[in-house]
Amino acid sequence: MIVLEDVSFGYEKTLVLENVNLSIKNHELVGIFGPNGGGKTTLLKLLMGFLKPTRGSILISGTSPKAASTRIGYVPQVTRFDKQFPLSVLDVVLMGALSKLTPWGTYPSEVKKKAREILAQVGLIDKENQAFGTLSGGQAQRTLIARALLSNPELLLLDEPTASIDPAAEEDVYQLLNSLKGKMAILMVTHDLQSILHWAGRLLCVRRTVTSYLPSELCSHFALGLYHDRSTLQ
Ligand SMILES: Nc1ncnc2c1ncn2[C@@H]1O[C@H](COP(=O)(O)OP(=O)(O)OP(=O)(O)O)[C@@H](O)[C@H]1O
Ligand SMILES: [Mg+2]
Repeated sequence: MIVLEDVSFGYEKTLVLENVNLSIKNHELVGIFGPNGGGKTTLLKLLMGFLKPTRGSILISGTSPKAASTRIGYVPQVTRFDKQFPLSVLDVVLMGALSKLTPWGTYPSEVKKKAREILAQVGLIDKENQAFGTLSGGQAQRTLIARALLSNPELLLLDEPTASIDPAAEEDVYQLLNSLKGKMAILMVTHDLQSILHWAGRLLCVRRTVTSYLPSELCSHFALGLYHDRSTLQ
């Protein structure tokens, strides 16, 4: 479903990603980890078509990332947000269907119906009219996942969705992602290797180059930030 061939990218002169070769199948669950500044967010932005490779090619279901962008859901990292943020939870979810907004600034009723169904799926239907800014971190994160799901994506990209929430809320997010298994390909950036090991079918370590691992191949030292192969220990 996703094929990267010899992809390199740099913001200016310095290369951030170099010679990345990668292929990801339909419905695969992939965890992405690596050191700060390693290029994880950059990789997601390339997949979404926000950035263009300096070299090499990226295909998503046979088309360019830009052409595929309506089939991709993106969940950005929430760090802190304004408690006065005026939109309701339902409004935020509906932002996932901006292209369906009518000239009168309203959404078709079937889009609203779908948004409510997804809010029920993420366990927030009782919060649809609450101000987004008053949600807990985990609830806000689930709202943003609901927004990304509104367009029925075939690929869901999440950038550290559990970085700023407590362990209980984190568990909620993992359960939600588990319930999406088999419905779409999911790529999730995380620093929490212990959780991702249980959850992902494959892991990508991104630090200028991209190395693919099966969960069973990961050395426990990775969790300490010591990114080395098992083979280098033996
Ligand atoms: N817009 C930009 N212009 C110039 N350099 C950038 C830009 N965005 C990122 N970089 C640089 O590219 C490198 C990779 O950044 P990126 O955000 O992809 O890393 P990351 O792996 O997501 O890191 P983190 O774990 O901290 O989120 C870093 O050295 C960063 O400083
Ligand atoms: Mg990042």
